[in-house]
Amino acid sequence: MTLKKIYKKWACVALTGASMLGATIATANAQQVFRNTITGEELKILEVAPKEGRDTPAVKSFLETGINPYIGVKGCLPRGEEAYLVACSGCHGHLGEGKVGPGLNDNYWTYPKNTTDKGLFETIFGGAQGMMGPHGGDLQLDEVLALIAWIRNLNIGEAKDAEWLTDAQKASFKPFNAKEWDGSGKAEAAKEQCTIPAN
Ligand code: HEC
Repeated sequence: MTLKKIYKKWACVALTGASMLGATIATANAQQVFRNTITGEELKILEVAPKEGRDTPAVKSFLETGINPYIGVKGCLPRGEEAYLVACSGCHGHLGEGKVGPGLNDNYWTYPKNTTDKGLFETIFGGAQGMMGPHGGDLQLDEVLALIAWIRNLNIGEAKDAEWLTDAQKASFKPFNAKEWDGSGKAEAAKEQCTIPAN
């Protein structure tokens, strides 16, 4: 065998090995593909997101299904609100009513995919046009899920148009009431846990 042939043979074995390994890794973390809202480019979630807050059951489930298990979980709302007030309210308003950024509390979305948890996550993580920069590097993944739950909670539209809610969630949905929240709501929610509901 010439050297060239030997090289080819081993290169081939190495390539097959590498692609088999690739396939194993892919099955182990069957992940959704997340895409930038404007460019459609794939978002490299695990290369960009902070190391902390990645390994929670909610994040694992979300990366596999694109469904945010924190939606409607009362105990997640204070955490979500906190992140929102730090990172978003300056541009989108305290209650998501809109300022330099559009309102996030009604059922109108510039990007229709934001009616889904996955779409909203992609917009927050990778950004959109102009002042809407990417937030994937500065918010923990678990925090983003709580933040999304908070944004959904701010909604003052009608349940029937809230495409991100399941039928069961629609049945118990109440449009956001700031007075109630600032009254006893926030304190009550803070007593509960931010975890995936049992059923
Ligand atoms: C510096 C100002 C600024 C900050 C901070 C900011 N945004 Fe934005 N946001 C904007 C602007 C401006 C737009 C409109 C961009 C566009 O239409 O592409 C926007 C668009 C959006 C949209 C798309 C709305 C739609 O109708 O489809 C979402 C969702 C959003 N922002 C969520 C957030 C969240 C969540 C945060 C906090 C993590 C945040 N933004 C922080 C300015 C900001």
